[in-house]
Amino acid sequence: MHTEVFKIEGPVFNPEQLQPAVEILKNGGVVGFPTETVYGLGAIATNDSALREIFRVKGRPADNPLILHIWRECQLKELAEEVNEKYRRLIEEFWPGPLTLIFPKRPEVSLLVTAGLGTVAVRMPSHPVARELLRLVDIPVAAPSANLSGSPSPTRGDHVFQDLAGKIPVIIDAGPCQAGLESTVLTLTDGRPLILRPGFVTREMLEETLGERVETAQSGAVDRPRAPGMKYRHYAPRAPVVLVEGENEKVVAKINQIIREEPAGLRIVVIGSSDNARKYRCDRVLDWGPRSDLAIAAARLFGFLRECDRLEAELVIIEGAAAEGIGAAIENRLRKAAGGNVIYVS
Ligand code: TXA
Ligand code: MG
Repeated sequence: MHTEVFKIEGPVFNPEQLQPAVEILKNGGVVGFPTETVYGLGAIATNDSALREIFRVKGRPADNPLILHIWRECQLKELAEEVNEKYRRLIEEFWPGPLTLIFPKRPEVSLLVTAGLGTVAVRMPSHPVARELLRLVDIPVAAPSANLSGSPSPTRGDHVFQDLAGKIPVIIDAGPCQAGLESTVLTLTDGRPLILRPGFVTREMLEETLGERVETAQSGAVDRPRAPGMKYRHYAPRAPVVLVEGENEKVVAKINQIIREEPAGLRIVVIGSSDNARKYRCDRVLDWGPRSDLAIAAARLFGFLRECDRLEAELVIIEGAAAEGIGAAIENRLRKAAGGNVIYVS
């Protein structure tokens, strides 16, 4: 299959450019498109063969449910059985934006979307191209991240091309995603707010809006994960990854010790903050920016994990971030990339 790439440059664009993608979606095909978080692989939620195509193209396990994307709130009533006061407050504050909410599902929602669950995940993206595409299609669009299952989520059009060229007809390339990490996934289905996947909408922000404590599900809960996606190894470059966390000076010392103890000539890549970049005794350091502004790190992270493959890394060592605010979302992705290979120094 030939993959056509439509490039959109700058914030102002001609909606005509989206027409081919709109036609493909309406006819039950899949399309790569930008959102403010990561690129999505979209298919309309009302067509089961289109939904199956998402799973086939990504190589995604069928028990990992999809997020439905809408552009206006009235679409929610076709999807969610109940939208109570707490949900209303969150929608008011955070939509459109990087917050996915889990609702009890309406019977019409395909079980392919929800992987057989009685709940459905919905979000309203804020990216202007995503919004226009969703407006033109005007049917909820199911979209996981547009990467092959297990590889880092795509934060640029060319990442989608790397993974899915020849497998999908169209990619809309609108440049780098602003956030660079997938949406926060929050459930309230048993009354208490629980973050299933941390993201740009932080626990602190949710607590502020809800006026109550918000818990974060343990992503190590492999047995019965609440967000089924949490149990798979994710975001991983080909090389083994080790994540080093703890007090800054000790982290730097530990990373340098690991470098020293590996055989000379091994292609090591270090991913770390600009505060520490020059302290690493390694010629391949990918600098994720200052610790004082983790939004920069978030936007760069997935690209760096892909860069490790391009550099043919044989070992990737990553400096951990903080555990608060966006740092919690970054840590969550880094731990998954490391597949549990985490060293804590104190
Ligand atoms: O930012 C994003 O959310 C991106 C863009 C494209 O919108 N999408 C995305 O989709 O990250 P995906 O499929 O890569 O991740 C969806 C996550 C998975 O962890 C999945 O298990 C969880 O949401 N999820 C979906 N439906 C759920 C449900 N009913 N209950 C619990 N978790 C659910
Ligand atoms: Mg994904």
